[in-house]
Amino acid sequence: MSRILIRGGLVITAAEEMLADVLIEDQQIVALAASDSAAAAGWQAESVIDATGRYVLPGGVDAHTHMELPFGGTFASDTFETGTRAAAWGGTTTIIDFAVQPVGGSLREGLDAWHAKAQGNCAVDYGFHTIVSDVNEAVLKEMDLLVGTGESTSFKLFMAYPGVFYSDDGRILRAMQRGAANGGLIMMHAENGIAIDVLVEQALAAGHTDPRYHGEVRRELLEAEATHRAIKLAQVAGSPLYVVHVSAASALAELATARDQGLPVFGETCPQYLFLSTDDLAAPGFEGAKYVCSTPLRPREHQAELWKGLRTNDLQVVSTDHCPFCFTGQKDLGRGDFSKIPNGLPGVENRMDLLHQAVVEGRISRRRWIEIACATPARMFGLYPRKGTIAPGADADVVIYDPAARQTVSAATHHMNVDYSAYEGRELTGRVETVLSRGSVLLDDGRWLGHAGHGVFLPRATCQYL
Ligand code: URP
Ligand code: ZN
Ligand code: ZN
Ligand code: ZN
Repeated sequence: MSRILIRGGLVITAAEEMLADVLIEDQQIVALAASDSAAAAGWQAESVIDATGRYVLPGGVDAHTHMELPFGGTFASDTFETGTRAAAWGGTTTIIDFAVQPVGGSLREGLDAWHAKAQGNCAVDYGFHTIVSDVNEAVLKEMDLLVGTGESTSFKLFMAYPGVFYSDDGRILRAMQRGAANGGLIMMHAENGIAIDVLVEQALAAGHTDPRYHGEVRRELLEAEATHRAIKLAQVAGSPLYVVHVSAASALAELATARDQGLPVFGETCPQYLFLSTDDLAAPGFEGAKYVCSTPLRPREHQAELWKGLRTNDLQVVSTDHCPFCFTGQKDLGRGDFSKIPNGLPGVENRMDLLHQAVVEGRISRRRWIEIACATPARMFGLYPRKGTIAPGADADVVIYDPAARQTVSAATHHMNVDYSAYEGRELTGRVETVLSRGSVLLDDGRWLGHAGHGVFLPRATCQYL
């Protein structure tokens, strides 16, 4: 048995903050006690980490990533190997990625393909949601099976991307009814893709080909409308609903209204919507392509509303939707036609730090930081309390965080396999110092000690946030 003692840090969970020592045996946290207590004084360990003046946090849980996602004729540039290593550098020790049902194929085929990409390659633990691109009788039965075994207990449907991932309202309703019956959580990409495609065609016909038009055709109203419709369909089905990557204030308002009515609807936003805006999308030349994602970045005024939603718990989770494409060779595909720019931004390495910056600036509390980035995503997707907290019995996924360190975000120093940073030059206070995953030290003050294949697949319970 190997024992590690983390001494003298400020342990922060969603529920409390306490100067405490943390005792780890093998892969688990086994005890926690006030730093000046007799109990802690008596603990022995082969290895002691001095966390004085540091935060001791649960490893981040990023519930929305797309490593190697095939999209727009190319693949997201982070593999499971590079992407999970970058996640660890940024203090995230669990990701939940999306296995895509191939068109005409089964959920099983999608999951098999994603297991093959991830197994033996991940530096941190991982789970899979399933993207359902064709709701049919066989698929509905497969949903039962996957929820039953815990292999995948959440299913993403798309109201956007006609001809690719799109589901019509009837298919969405059937999937929601099935989720209501089997406990699977329906995740929704809420944008009216049919209407958006009309606006795309009209924009291109008018010669509006620059990246900024991506933001203009993906109208806020069409996110709000789809969010409203998804909520009503979920209400008809009697199912909970989790809306992914909420970017528009009016879409958030739809969630808030539904929650005020007591409906079990939840919302996720992402750092890009909290820190970036249409100003970035309108960067000169083709630079705006770096900021093309869907839902799109919104005008700056939306940011304050999203922060408010995070404070009032109308939004519960911040995930990254990490889906990187290199500027050179990938985003390039859309020169002269914004609709061909692969959609997605890098961010898996930046999330914990950007949210800490929000703590520094007084937008959210320290405990809320941990709640939206660790505890709630773990609960929402059936991983709690194994992940998302520091408590006896939890996996020893621990981040030692220096809240006073300064850093400048840059592609020159990041670990994501992408040739730009969406946050280039941003100065942040706070930095990940040491990262443990199930008791193994992956990162120790700038030294990488992790390895591909350390991360294991995580079966999951159903939603624990209801
Ligand atoms: O632009 C994005 N978000 N790309 C990834 C696919 C998705 O819709 O989440
Ligand atoms: Zn989406
Ligand atoms: Zn996504
Ligand atoms: Zn290992």
